[in-house]
This record gives sequence, structure tokens and C-alpha cells, in this order.
Amino acid sequence: MQIKQNYSLLKHNTFGLDVKTKYFAEYANEADLQKLLRDEYFFSQPFWHIGQGSNLLFLGDFDGVIVHSAIQGIEKIKETAGFVWLKAGAGTDWDSFVAHCVQNGWGGLENLSLIPGEVGSSAVQNIGAYGAEAAGCIEEVHAYFLETGEKKIFSNPECEYAYRDSFFKKQENRGKYYITHVVYKLSKKPEYKLDYGNIREQIGAGTVNLETVRQAVIAIRKSKLPDPKKTGNAGSFFVNPCIGMEHYESLKKRYPGMPHYPVNEKTVKIPAAWLIEHSGLKGKTAGGASVYEKQPLVIINQGNASGRDIADLAAEICKTIKEKFFIDLQPEVNYI
Ligand code: EPU
Repeated sequence: MQIKQNYSLLKHNTFGLDVKTKYFAEYANEADLQKLLRDEYFFSQPFWHIGQGSNLLFLGDFDGVIVHSAIQGIEKIKETAGFVWLKAGAGTDWDSFVAHCVQNGWGGLENLSLIPGEVGSSAVQNIGAYGAEAAGCIEEVHAYFLETGEKKIFSNPECEYAYRDSFFKKQENRGKYYITHVVYKLSKKPEYKLDYGNIREQIGAGTVNLETVRQAVIAIRKSKLPDPKKTGNAGSFFVNPCIGMEHYESLKKRYPGMPHYPVNEKTVKIPAAWLIEHSGLKGKTAGGASVYEKQPLVIINQGNASGRDIADLAAEICKTIKEKFFIDLQPEVNYI
């Protein structure tokens, strides 16, 4: 186990904020994690588990312990004629995992290429993009429950997956489970999802296979989303809001062109990017933070933003959307 003191989190948050934590504890295996969970000093102060920090907003220095899993590795644990089951360490880089699946001809995650983050967070956030969600391939999640130190294996239904939601994200469970491994079930006979956005267009007359789908998704992401290595950001800052049918019908009278996606008979999902753009907020700034011109669901650090600047801009966006559309936007990013 590595424990660092007074440690800069600059490389551990994609907003590129140079904040410090009192302690940074990184465990490389389950034995180290079990030791940490028995440590009374650890539990006597504030603590928070992070992945690659691609969904975090530090409002200032952290006076406690930031915990990170360095459990790596991808192991094939089962195979049939049609499927493989891969057990991946929570600290494995997400896109390296997707690339590994694609290279081996195992389908299911190719539409989730180039998403920043790690395998552990993929199972918490239920990451989703271009018509696919992690939950569609998750078989099991292995996690330790902090209150008892016991290990529990969650089946897919026990993870309670929904759009950008899971058991692990619920208020009552948040931060209480540390994931060590995720078992993904991939298909040897992939079914391609090409209908979201312009994946089909991007592939054009080329052959459709796992690699070309992956490359199309990478190209689309690069054209729309800022590269966190160059411009600090956390991808979508808000989740797309779901509103009731009556609310939607009343908005539709005023905004007939408003895009919408039915969730069920009673609920409709509205793209937050559209709401932000149609509130004139594209390019809006607060201190060093700004609404990204090419995709207004993203807030960027122009270089010298503080966590507070980013939070202030997010608050202003929420206020404007509430006043104009009577919709409460919820941040997808965790404030710490
Ligand atoms: N739109 C605008 N203006 C824009 C951009 C988009 O009005 O400048 C509207 C359009 O109507 C468009 C709609 O928003 O059709 C949806 O846009 P897009 O397809 O870019 O997707 P999104 O709903 O904004 C979600 C995910 C992204 C993911 C994309 C692609 C959430 C919160 N975000 O964004 O995830 O990459 O779909 O599947 O669901 C992330 O989580 O960090 C992330 C980038």
C-alpha cells in the first residue's frame, strides 16, 4: 500500500485543478484494501474513493484521505461458443480495457471507446454513450462493504442499473462500497449498434467490424468533446433531465423543436445540451470556467479556473434552466 502525505491531486482530476489532499492511499490488491478497512485512523477522518477523477469537482484542498485502487489486470474466467467472461481490476484504465476487447474480437463495449475513467467507476456510473451502456455487459461487481469489511458479489440486477444510475450511486450507498473487480460478459458474435448519432455515416462505405466502430466513436468523440489532457473538463457536467409528460406537453407548445426521448409512458428525457444552448449559455464564463462551445453540456477549465468558478458557473446554468424551462438540472459530477 502506498500512502502519500500532502499530495497534489493535479493528475487525479480531469478538471486539472491543483488541489491537495492530506493523505493519498493507493492499494494494489485485496489484502491491502482489507488492511485499510481495519485501520481506525483511516475511519477517524473524511475519506473519499476516486477512480481517474473524470467525474469529480474538488472545491478546495481535501483534509482527509483520498483512496485509489491500483488493482490491475484482465483475466478470462469463462468461455463458451458465443461469449467470454472477463474479470478486470477496478484500477484498469477503461479505454485500455475496451481496446483489449476489440482487439480480441469480443463485442459489447466498442461504442464506449475513449471514455475517460477506470473499470471500477464504469460499474458505479453505468457509463453510457452512442446507444450502449456498461450495464448491458456487466455480469458481476465484486465489492467490499466498508461498514463490515465484508466482500459481496453483486449480480447485474442487484446493481439496480438505470440511465447514469446504480445501487452504488444511491444516496444511502454512496461511498460505502469499494469495488475491486468487475466481470464483463462480451460476445464473440457482436451485434453492432450503429444507429445513434452519426456512427454509420462516420464508417461510410468501409467494413463494419469492432475496430471500425471503435475508430468511428473515437473520431466522433474527438470532434465534439474536449481532450481532458489539453483542456480540463469532466465530460457531461449534468445528466439529461427526465420530466413528466404534462410538463413536456406544456413546454412543447412554446418550443415545438425541442428534442425529446420517451423513457416510458409517463416520462420524457430532454437533452440538457439543448436546454443550455437555447438559454443562450454557450460560451458563458465565470472566472476561469466556461461553457464549451461545441457541446454545452461540458464545462471547461480555461486554464486558471478554481473549483469554485466551475461550481458557480454550474449554479448559474441550473438557475437559468429552472427559470426558463422549470426543469431542475442535476450535476453528474461529484462535488468534493
Ligand atoms: N445538442 C444541442 N446542442 C449541442 C449539442 C447537442 O442542442 O451543441 C442537443 C441535440 O439535440 C442533440 C442532443 O443534444 O441531439 C444530444 O447530444 P449528444 O448526442 O451529443 O449527447 P448528450 O445527450 O449531450 C450523452 C452523454 C455523453 C455521450 C453522448 C453520446 C449524458 C449526460 N451524456 O450526451 O456522455 O458521450 O450522449 O452518446 O448522458 C459523458 O458522460 O461525459 C459524456 C460525454
